[in-house]
Amino acid sequence: MILKSVELRDFRNYENLTIHFDEGTNILYGNNAQGKTNLLEAIYLSGTTKSHKGSKDRDMIRFDCEQAHIRTIVDKGGMEYCIDFHIKKNSSKGIAINRIPIKKAADLFGILNVVFFSPEDLNIIKDGPSQRRRFLDLELSQLNKIYLHHLSGYHKTLNQRNKLLKDIYFRPDLKDTLFVWDMKLVEYGKSIIKIRRKFILDLQEIVYGIHKDISGGKEELFISYEPDVGEEELEEKLLAVREKDLKMGQTTIGPHRDDLLFSIHGVDIRKFGSQGQQRTTALSLKLSEIELVKQTRRDTPILLLDDVLSELDSRRQNFLLNRIHDIQTVITCTGLDEFVKNRFQINKVFQVLEGSIQ
Ligand SMILES: Nc1ncnc2c1ncn2[C@@H]1O[C@H](COP(=O)(O)OP(=O)(O)OP(=O)(O)O)[C@@H](O)[C@H]1O
Ligand SMILES: [Mg+2]
Repeated sequence: MILKSVELRDFRNYENLTIHFDEGTNILYGNNAQGKTNLLEAIYLSGTTKSHKGSKDRDMIRFDCEQAHIRTIVDKGGMEYCIDFHIKKNSSKGIAINRIPIKKAADLFGILNVVFFSPEDLNIIKDGPSQRRRFLDLELSQLNKIYLHHLSGYHKTLNQRNKLLKDIYFRPDLKDTLFVWDMKLVEYGKSIIKIRRKFILDLQEIVYGIHKDISGGKEELFISYEPDVGEEELEEKLLAVREKDLKMGQTTIGPHRDDLLFSIHGVDIRKFGSQGQQRTTALSLKLSEIELVKQTRRDTPILLLDDVLSELDSRRQNFLLNRIHDIQTVITCTGLDEFVKNRFQINKVFQVLEGSIQ
């Protein structure tokens, strides 16, 4: 897929912008706080309906404005798609594909696949489990429509169940209704665990080779899934912790507490890896995301690199740039030195200055 253009109206610090991208490598450069990341955020949102930073919709509307618009034009195998986002201050956002409003965010699935890589992603290995779950969820939501659906079902059910657990304290008669939520939670939860398990196996096959290459053949990386509870025991365990859950007022087991283990030569690098190992692993993981989209969706994703080059040493920079020359990329940076130094091919350069493009 190719991202052809983006139009912004009152989105973040952009009042009015139209930008046409090249099919190859696009560079957005400019000083700090000019709007480079905001533009990538708009692209990411168009593909996934969410901000890569997890920002609220209303925070993305330009200060003192009532609404924001994003229009992206995507070419998918010769077919053109126009994705419209209409973000309003006091109601939920409206999305349309080729001028036809869609009801569920899931209807956008597969039109624009994006891989976002920011300096924070380099910490995914050493950060807490919630960041690794976030990676799993964001990635799987782009690859698997059933996952997207079941994940949202799971979280809704989890919130309902947690609310009920608290309510039962004041109204013990409500306890009889708990089983309804338990059944739903088990149904969605089992599916999520199963899909995650399969995903990690696929990911492992790809990431192993990439990591071995980046580390010059030295390191063998293994990723394994650490489910809080296996799919077969979920129902039984949920029942077993019921009294504890009632006491705590929340659901204490389930896939919302899963984690991923990263190990190199038998050492858990979440805890014991060197900083370099952790960052290289994060890079391997991002590059694997691209491969997974290619294999699963049979299409190339759009890669958004937000200021990561300056965070990598020149060997890792070269590795990254060499692996992505066949996909469309939008790269932000504050200067163009890195590219000149690496003699990397650039197709289009934009200078971002106070919410406009030069
Ligand atoms: N809702 C909003 N309305 C108006 N301006 C906003 C809004 N949200 C953020 N901004 C402003 O947008 C500006 C640009 O932010 P952005 O993160 O895109 O900068 P950047 O070019 O990526 O800078 P850096 O190089 O530091 O990463 C910031 O100064 C911020 O205050
Ligand atoms: Mg930025």
